[in-house]
Amino acid sequence: MRIRIPVVILSLAVASSVYAAPAPVHLDKRGWVTDKLRDLFSKALKSLECGACVTALVGAKDIAILNKSWVLDAASSLCTEFKLFPSDVCSGLVYSQGPVILDSLLAANLLSGDGKYFCFQALGVCPATGVTSGSPTFPKPKPANAVAPAHSGNQIDVLHLSDWHVDDHYVVGSEGDCNRPMCCRNYADSPLTPKRAASTWGDYKCDSPIKLGQDLLKYVPNVANVNFTILTGDIPPHDIWLQNKDSVVIVEDVAYSTMKSGLSSKVYPTVGNHEAGPPDLFPTKASGGDISWLYSSLADDWSRWLPADAVNSVKNYGAYTVSPTPGFRIISLNTNFCYTKNFYLYGHTKDYDPNGEIQWLITQLQAAEDAGERVWIISHVGPSMTDCTQNWSALYYQVIQRYSPHVVAEQFFGHTHRDEFALYYGPGAKSTQNAISTGWIGPSVTPFTDLNPGFRVYKVDTKSWNVFDAQTYVADLDQAATWDAAGGSPNWHLEYSARQAYGAYVPIAETAPLSASWWHNVTTVFEKNDAAFQKYWTYRGKSANRQPACAAGSACPAETICNLRAGKSSDACGTTPFLSKREAEDNEDDVTGLHSMYKRSEARPWNKKLCGLSVEI
Ligand SMILES: *[C@@H]1O[C@H](CO)[C@@H](O)[C@H](O)[C@H]1NC(C)=O
Ligand SMILES: *[C@@H]1O[C@H](CO)[C@@H](O)[C@H](O)[C@H]1NC(C)=O
Ligand SMILES: *[C@@H]1O[C@H](CO)[C@@H](O)[C@H](O)[C@H]1NC(C)=O
Ligand SMILES: *[C@@H]1O[C@H](CO)[C@@H](O)[C@H](O)[C@H]1NC(C)=O
Repeated sequence: MRIRIPVVILSLAVASSVYAAPAPVHLDKRGWVTDKLRDLFSKALKSLECGACVTALVGAKDIAILNKSWVLDAASSLCTEFKLFPSDVCSGLVYSQGPVILDSLLAANLLSGDGKYFCFQALGVCPATGVTSGSPTFPKPKPANAVAPAHSGNQIDVLHLSDWHVDDHYVVGSEGDCNRPMCCRNYADSPLTPKRAASTWGDYKCDSPIKLGQDLLKYVPNVANVNFTILTGDIPPHDIWLQNKDSVVIVEDVAYSTMKSGLSSKVYPTVGNHEAGPPDLFPTKASGGDISWLYSSLADDWSRWLPADAVNSVKNYGAYTVSPTPGFRIISLNTNFCYTKNFYLYGHTKDYDPNGEIQWLITQLQAAEDAGERVWIISHVGPSMTDCTQNWSALYYQVIQRYSPHVVAEQFFGHTHRDEFALYYGPGAKSTQNAISTGWIGPSVTPFTDLNPGFRVYKVDTKSWNVFDAQTYVADLDQAATWDAAGGSPNWHLEYSARQAYGAYVPIAETAPLSASWWHNVTTVFEKNDAAFQKYWTYRGKSANRQPACAAGSACPAETICNLRAGKSSDACGTTPFLSKREAEDNEDDVTGLHSMYKRSEARPWNKKLCGLSVEI
């Protein structure tokens, strides 16, 4: 979803460069700070330079040392003044996210790298700062003949749900095209006559009404005999400026009860960035701060499906491991410790493995290797995504190389809301022989934004635990009005079977799974055959056909294909520091500079590294 948080942060940061001027002692300091800020803010947004960004952070820190409220108040009023958002959204975001940002700046060493790092990783303004996290320590070397076991030929259905994002406050008939990050609610200033009235089943700029989620669950048994369900995170709606501890706990309770009553299978969930309240903020041991209230509440919700030891582990780490059936294990990781909008991370950048989660993962995988188990890793933010910090992603990638393909059978993620995948390779070339693991990025339940609601069913071998088919189902939300007129319900239907759709280009034996090598071959076809690539592009947007075009001959297809092969976030393409140079289209009359920023981001809609401007959050 497109949310302009980085701009709000930048305003916060810039707020502080004021400190370069002599600080008035007895004046109305708040007014003075805001005044100075206005100039600096518009200048910074126009130059969008790495050096200016770091200077701004240094200034922010200096002012925060005097009084954090000055920075927050100034950022909030400028956010409103520059019409980034309505004032309630501005103040909600600044006062919930801002204190954590300031605390991290206070703990950081801005001039010896942390400043550039923040400006690169959180804002996309500085060029990449280089991966320095090194190599993790493994208890044993990789076995010489590390091969995956044979397949049994026996298959089960596994349901993959992601990004539930059901909005309990959805109002039918309310404005579907509003000026807030999420629409279809009655806001104080909502117009009496909406430009686009929210349908009873949902809208492309909104999270799902409850009945869409319920109807999806009701439909699943028509097409799958679900053995178990994986749920890759993000339950709450995108009311990110309102969300707090109390609201999240209620939303989570309601959603998990709905799933319990709507699904007969067990559900194995994972913690998404939206699970925190305020969203994205997961404290680490190094940062200090408390998130035990969330882990306890999730442990309660998940105890419906998880055994006691896993529930206990959730309470402590927000991560767990469970063996649904002998020989098979699911590891549910809490990847919020690599999420670039988890601002707690920026105070301790040399803490490469916050809370020791990578080490914990290694311990689990080593135990699985020793026991001859097959493993699925599930998490919300995928380590391939550019909003997973490069240092963490590089450590994770080495863990996959060490334990694939003989232990890690598959990986499943969510977060982008789109239907995507990411490939992992052994050391050396990115070739079909060297491809060792697939990260399946599942489609969201929510249509937010410009996507059709959907879910996926995997056909899985019960010995190798590899995926033999991925069948994605959607409903065409643009037809929502006709569903009501007919007294009916969403037109859930098979969008495509990966085996059939791409098997047409890369033939596959009936006895072979959709392996990473096969997917690599599919990406090779994408390079040569635009019709095949365009098929992928349509499915990626869940056949809503509302995503920007990715035309042959533009840079888009090549960057997209490169990103499909980038299981490690530092391998992503389209990384040219895109905010560092002014472009011809810049509009001098545009005081805030925002217009040109958005114009530029829209010019490269496929770019995973859009300066944080259109990253899914
Ligand atoms: C910081 O500023 C706020 C608002 O101007 C004021 O209410 C508060 O007392 C100040 N805090 C300190 C420690 O000076
Ligand atoms: C799931 O599949 C396993 C085989 O791997 C089977 O033993 C088990 O009974 C199935 N469970 C359900 C709930 O269908
Ligand atoms: C990796 O971590 C170091 C801190 O030791 C930081 O300076 C660097 O910028 C980080 N690089 C990336 C790409 O995350
Ligand atoms: C991938 O393509 C190569 C070269 O055409 C071929 O040898 C190999 O069998 C293919 N592998 C899969 C799994 O499709």
